[in-house]
Amino acid sequence: MTNSTPIPPAEGKLGVLTPGMGAVATTFVAGVLAARKGYAQPIGSLTQNSHIRLGKRDEHRNPLIKEFVALATLEDLEFGGWDPYSDDAYTAAMKAGVLEARHLEGIGEELRAVRPMSAVFSPRWVKNLGNTEQVKSASNHMALAEQLMEDIDRFRAEKDVDRLVAIWCGSTEAYEEPSDVHLDLDTFEQGLKDGHEAITPSQIYAYACLSMGVPFANGAPNLTVDIPAMVQLATQNRVPIAGKDFKTGQTLMKTMVAPGLKARMLGINGWFSTNILGNRDGEVLDDPESFRTKEVSKLGVLEHILQPDVYPDLYGDIYHKVRINYYPPKGDDKEGWDHIDIFGWLGYPMQIKIDFLCKDSILAAPIVLDLALFMDLASRAGKSGIQEWLSFYFKSPQHAPGLYPENDLFIQLTKLKNNLRHMMGEELITHLGTEYYDEA
Ligand SMILES: NC(=O)c1ccc[n+]([C@@H]2O[C@H](COP(=O)([O-])OP(=O)(O)OC[C@H]3O[C@@H](n4cnc5c(N)ncnc54)[C@H](O)[C@@H]3O)[C@@H](O)[C@H]2O)c1
Repeated sequence: MTNSTPIPPAEGKLGVLTPGMGAVATTFVAGVLAARKGYAQPIGSLTQNSHIRLGKRDEHRNPLIKEFVALATLEDLEFGGWDPYSDDAYTAAMKAGVLEARHLEGIGEELRAVRPMSAVFSPRWVKNLGNTEQVKSASNHMALAEQLMEDIDRFRAEKDVDRLVAIWCGSTEAYEEPSDVHLDLDTFEQGLKDGHEAITPSQIYAYACLSMGVPFANGAPNLTVDIPAMVQLATQNRVPIAGKDFKTGQTLMKTMVAPGLKARMLGINGWFSTNILGNRDGEVLDDPESFRTKEVSKLGVLEHILQPDVYPDLYGDIYHKVRINYYPPKGDDKEGWDHIDIFGWLGYPMQIKIDFLCKDSILAAPIVLDLALFMDLASRAGKSGIQEWLSFYFKSPQHAPGLYPENDLFIQLTKLKNNLRHMMGEELITHLGTEYYDEA
């Protein structure tokens, strides 16, 4: 079955709003500006680089994704956001230390023009940030949400944008389980008015955005759009949501390696993952409450890929441990070690060691770009609520109740591409292949 309703073209400008304008957000903005000027290539982005096969293999139809579906172009993007620190995007990028000064100079003027709006922020939810500079105040959470909505309106008018999307690039908030106030929209709205203590800043941003029809994707592991009240609001207002926690670094590697081991039916009895990193994100994650949020997001991945209940002999007894260590000299250059104990034929043990010297924000920036463009596409295509087809980008993909999340990177990619084919009325690709061998 295919979708036959034509998708409206991406006319006019698309505003990309990021609550949080630290390392990831500024690396994303700087990269788009550099690519626009032809200084650098947007490597790692599917929307900019990937082709998509259409039809049978002997048809040789393989356009770029961006030529196949109507996406906003890099030239169409306008950037804005919020942060409790007032640094413009140039200063914030210099402080983050991801990109070298020589890469920032050529786009310095445009970066300096991107200034964060004052944030909805609470040290109750993000502890390890000191001396914040611009934080909104109001009598209750609903009044804070209204201030954010005014910011969105002002940004829309000033930048003359036609459409908007929001991607949470803020710090990881303290761990929270959904509570009564999150379970339906009326209760949540009453909680906003009452300043309920279980409502986090990221949820206030999401509420403001969804109320204004702005699609919202969550790049961090905190509880934000993955609560019933927010799913209800997104569905009611016909707005796409997606989350959560950008799949970069070690988890990206894990979701590449684990499906391969499982495909060969090799057993695993231990997987120890440890990281050292020294950026602000690492500092925030040094707080046990924020780390707990990240840990939960990272630990779920293996279980869903390996299905220990289906394969108890191979994966029923895995010791899976994840550690993050804040080590300032590393800056944004994270080092992730994986030690994997596997076993093969007759139970003979083997080991795999991975040492991934990665750059977190270099891996995350293209995800922000792709999510911005695909969330905008989803919105124009009339999609609303949870966008499970974007699971590819997340450590903890949001999914409908009663389903398990799909974490295998290769299934996620197939899902993403089949959704694009479906949106454009193209045949889905099953890889069956018998048609090439049919006897006459
Ligand atoms: N870099 C990666 O590979 C990666 C992968 C997965 C998830 N993430 C998540 O993405 C987020 C951003 O990562 P980063 O490396 O840019 O971190 P960062 O610390 O450099 O930037 C986060 C920014 O968010 C701001 N912030 C905190 N609370 C805010 C609020 N309530 N409103 C607005 N701004 C707020 C901080 O002041 C900071 O400038 C983190 O939550 C991180 O865990 C990053």
